[in-house]
Amino acid sequence: MFRSMHVSGSLTPPGDKSISHRALMFAALAKGQSEITGLLAGADVKSTSRVLRQLGAGISPVREGKPVTVLSRRLTTPDSRLDCGNSGTTTRLLLGILAGKGIRATLTGDASLRRRPMRRVTDPLRQMGARIDETANGTLPVSLRGGRLQTIDYQSAVSSAQVKSAVLLAGLTAEIPVTVREPHASRDHTERMLQWLGETVVCQQTAVSYQPSASLIQGFALDVPGDPSSAAFLVAAAVLAERGELLIRNVCVNPGRIGFLPVLARMGASVDLMNARVMGPEPVADLLARPAALSGTVVAAAEVPSLVDEIPVLAVLASGAAGETVFRGVGELRVKESDRLEMIARNLRAVGGDAEVVGDDLHVRGTDRPPRGRIDTAGDHRLAMAFAVLGTVPGARVELSERKSVAVSYPGFFTDLRRMSGSTRHRD
Ligand code: S3P
Repeated sequence: MFRSMHVSGSLTPPGDKSISHRALMFAALAKGQSEITGLLAGADVKSTSRVLRQLGAGISPVREGKPVTVLSRRLTTPDSRLDCGNSGTTTRLLLGILAGKGIRATLTGDASLRRRPMRRVTDPLRQMGARIDETANGTLPVSLRGGRLQTIDYQSAVSSAQVKSAVLLAGLTAEIPVTVREPHASRDHTERMLQWLGETVVCQQTAVSYQPSASLIQGFALDVPGDPSSAAFLVAAAVLAERGELLIRNVCVNPGRIGFLPVLARMGASVDLMNARVMGPEPVADLLARPAALSGTVVAAAEVPSLVDEIPVLAVLASGAAGETVFRGVGELRVKESDRLEMIARNLRAVGGDAEVVGDDLHVRGTDRPPRGRIDTAGDHRLAMAFAVLGTVPGARVELSERKSVAVSYPGFFTDLRRMSGSTRHRD
């Protein structure tokens, strides 16, 4: 593990995972050629490029730092199963596209993805007229068997950008109007990209409506900004350091993604947003993070969609904060890449922390004992990175069960963690 008592310099997180998936999918649906720079070269995005190629899209290799060219061709029935790897976003958004286009296909994934709920997407698509088979538990493999789609006004039980995007993409590809409503607003990258590409999308608080247009989406050039969810680990490591400051460049600061910043501010760590600008459909800025003494806070259920992927690292920060932090209404964490709710609490206890799950709430009480113990990452990238950050606390001895899962969203994570800390010692 690393010890980071002093942070300095600047880092640029990899391309945003959510925007990277959508960029590839929209490029595959657009007319003509698109060029995407800054695309995340993580395993999840490679799953999207692989399955889109199986469906007929011409996509150049996805490599770190290299532009990707997408040549759209008519998407057709693949001759084998579509393996979505570990990626829920690939699976759920693709289900919307395939249903809208009436393409027959079977989707599957790794053991983690095959445990995750798909009915939240197959239900609205079925209500629209898609013919879909899935397992009795509503999990992968899921087979689409065609069907002509009709318009829908869908009230989703969960606040999920994946559900919302699947219905919007079904509307786009079937050329029908759709409306999706959710309890609290989830990230809006699909809506922004549709509008940026000239489509009509109307957003009213927690409802989004898509209206088809007469013309096709045209090929585009897009530069993908850095991932705020990856930046959050760097911010957290800077907050835990003893001295210095860290500049994190080129971060997407979409309000639906940076809910962790106001939470950190309430806990006592203010992060400066600098050099605000716009990249394609998204707002972008550089973040300046510094060490801070933290105290507990309450994270309300309405805030959760804007920081859903940052709860592991916020919980890690809360474990060293004065007093209690409560994350309300975080039941969705049970169906992420692992049962994150249970694994956060269990792993914090494994290193001497005080955490418990009460119903759908997570309670973390801070201690000043240095964290020591073994972490079961459950193969979940965000657990691995969150607890690696905890391992940077002076006096910590945190052993991770594995580190390779970070390749899903942040392949260079351990290199960057090492780079940011002036007085780092490498212990494994
Ligand atoms: C994502 C949405 C979120 C998030 C996931 C990516 C997306 O999931 O956890 O990492 O790109 O739409 P839900 O929409 O299911 O909450």
